[in-house]
Amino acid sequence: MIDLFDPALLGHTVLLNNRIVMAPMTRTRTTDGDIPNALMATYYGQRASAGLIVAEANDVAPSSNGYARTPGIYTEAQRQGWRLVTDEVHRHGGTIFTQIWHVGRMAHPSLMPNGEAPWGVTAQRADGSDVFAHDEEGKLRYMPAGEPRQLSTDEVSALVGTFAQAFVNARDAGFDGVELHAANGYLFEQFLNSVHNTRTDRYGGGSMEDRTRFLMEVVDEAVCILGPGRVGIRLSPFGAYNSMPTDPLAEETLLYLCKELGKRGVAYLHLLYQLLPSGNMESAQFRELHIDHVVLAKVRATFPGAIIWCGGFTTRERAQAALNTGLVDMIAMGRPFVGNPDLVARLRHDWPIVVADRSSYYTRRGEIGFTDFPAYERA
Ligand code: PHB
Repeated sequence: MIDLFDPALLGHTVLLNNRIVMAPMTRTRTTDGDIPNALMATYYGQRASAGLIVAEANDVAPSSNGYARTPGIYTEAQRQGWRLVTDEVHRHGGTIFTQIWHVGRMAHPSLMPNGEAPWGVTAQRADGSDVFAHDEEGKLRYMPAGEPRQLSTDEVSALVGTFAQAFVNARDAGFDGVELHAANGYLFEQFLNSVHNTRTDRYGGGSMEDRTRFLMEVVDEAVCILGPGRVGIRLSPFGAYNSMPTDPLAEETLLYLCKELGKRGVAYLHLLYQLLPSGNMESAQFRELHIDHVVLAKVRATFPGAIIWCGGFTTRERAQAALNTGLVDMIAMGRPFVGNPDLVARLRHDWPIVVADRSSYYTRRGEIGFTDFPAYERA
């Protein structure tokens, strides 16, 4: 039986010290220009005992900015900022991938270059869902997602090249790999959802091949630039967050992706618990992973790489029980890493777990609620 503290070889390439993954979490501590900084290097370095860190979502381009102060990976300053982070994590013996996304329609003109409309797979707005943007007085707050403009076929193709450049930047910033954020109703999932994607071009929702094409073209670039063992992908099948409509073809699409991603040697699938359909990161209720074991068993039989399960885990017992099903290889935890930089040691030794105050998650208060949580032994 696999133990939570056993090492793992990801994608036949990357050796992880244990099976605990620090899930990607937006923390809004960037420097102006969406630039990662020394404080973020300290934060990630403190958490380097995770088997794998997946750093918070990075905008692939300025048009991908759906939440103010999330980092980017498209400028030289951002690449240099991330280099501080990767060096610090490696100095502590850790392994760090970074998550890359385009938010698609989950954006707002106040954050977009020249105030343009958010980029959509279609012109359908995410009714009832919010983004973190500037109001009319210039104050940052949760605001309804803007009215999107449907991208042309050529614009979608060009975006594949934008992702390719981000993969080069991630590699040059010292990341051990990348995770594509194809979950939670952002751009990739907007393409994958057969109800939302009503396009009629080669990226359209009419056929499986067409609606998965954008994601697979981006995956091909990632595999080519980084090598398959350094590419992971996050999916939230059956998720309804960010106003994604219920998709009767969700399972079929999931299993098709498992097959295609497997063929390409992608290192891991990171499966995410379901969030509520609308609202924002403050109001969203976290639920158990919606995928039942029957579906998970089919995923297991179809995808040859590792499966990471992110399902609201907070205890060693529950995490180990999930591994014991034999259906998953690693367990991702998010919130427990906020207040417990040494979470792995705390789980191993049954030391108390601190519950961090949620009000410090997305602030500009620098180190407060960010890097000021001590390790247990020093507490
Ligand atoms: C999400 O995955 O839903 C997500 C990621 C990053 C954010 C906000 C939401 O900043």
